[in-house]
Amino acid sequence: MTLPNSEAILEILVANRTEAGPVAAAVREGLSTRPRRLPPWLFYDEAGSLLFERITELPEYYLTRTERGILAAHSSDMIDLAAGGKRLRIVELGAGSADKTRLLLAAAVEAQGQVLYEPVDVSATALDAARERIEREIPGVTVAPRVMDYVHGLDLDAEGPLEELDERRLVLYIGSSIGNFDLEDANRVLLGVRGVLRPGDALLLGVDLVKTVPTLLAAYDDQAGVTAEFNLNVLARLNRELGANFNLKAFRHKAVWDAVHSRMEMYLESLSAQKVRIRALGLEVEFAPGERIHTENSYKYAPGQAERMLENAGFAAVGCWTDAERWFAVCLGRAE
Ligand code: TRP
Repeated sequence: MTLPNSEAILEILVANRTEAGPVAAAVREGLSTRPRRLPPWLFYDEAGSLLFERITELPEYYLTRTERGILAAHSSDMIDLAAGGKRLRIVELGAGSADKTRLLLAAAVEAQGQVLYEPVDVSATALDAARERIEREIPGVTVAPRVMDYVHGLDLDAEGPLEELDERRLVLYIGSSIGNFDLEDANRVLLGVRGVLRPGDALLLGVDLVKTVPTLLAAYDDQAGVTAEFNLNVLARLNRELGANFNLKAFRHKAVWDAVHSRMEMYLESLSAQKVRIRALGLEVEFAPGERIHTENSYKYAPGQAERMLENAGFAAVGCWTDAERWFAVCLGRAE
């Protein structure tokens, strides 16, 4: 193995701190025009990923535990319905939802003895961690990580087609990650998934449902302030990575329910008139008092909407499971 010399390393570091890096490009694009916005993938650096883990354990953040409850109660039914008497391989979009995935993998091992699990993620590090953990904790599961950006195109047969095998694929897209896309992009993502499946394969989709506004607001603005810290970490990240001088005390986390679009909107709101310098971009950004940076949307769906979304993307909705309060739904679509 050849290691890059120190000059090459320096070049890489400089490239990441100037226009060349994806962070720099996204920040320039989002902050040089109005309304100001930053893409949600910026949340998930190391600090942000740890904060998100803490969000999933908050009393107000009902999403994770509600979906986990649904999976705990119905994973065997989901696996049986998806398999339809054949062997299954399980693909997951994103490698982050480990303890919920575990319930489905355990049900598949129970049903067929062994199962191949293919987590798809842009982060090789996240995939390696998932592989190590899952192979150790659930005997019978073989993990085959796929480093890929599923938003821009999936290629599940990179390692050889399964045409000859009498197996079916089950794609997991849980955690209501689909809710971070607007309806048009969500349809595009689901069509992309359908495009790499064969008739008979299946997609398990987790969606968050519309509920009372106070419940939604609390989930995205908790008492302990972890969500605020998570949102503000984006500015801390720009300070760290782009030499920006955001004063974290001069912005506040703001969560808003937009009834027209049926979505939670997350913002960082400037508390005063201020100028921020972003050294690596040679950019100065002005904020008016109360001006907001839009950081995320999280769509909440009406009853029956997940089924329609599946159908619009070429799946037959063959099963939907929910909790007693109907706060969250997990639906199985069969590729037609
Ligand atoms: N995608 C998650 C969600 O919609 C992430 C999230 C939770 C989030 N809390 C947040 C994003 C607060 C921005 C701000 O539930």
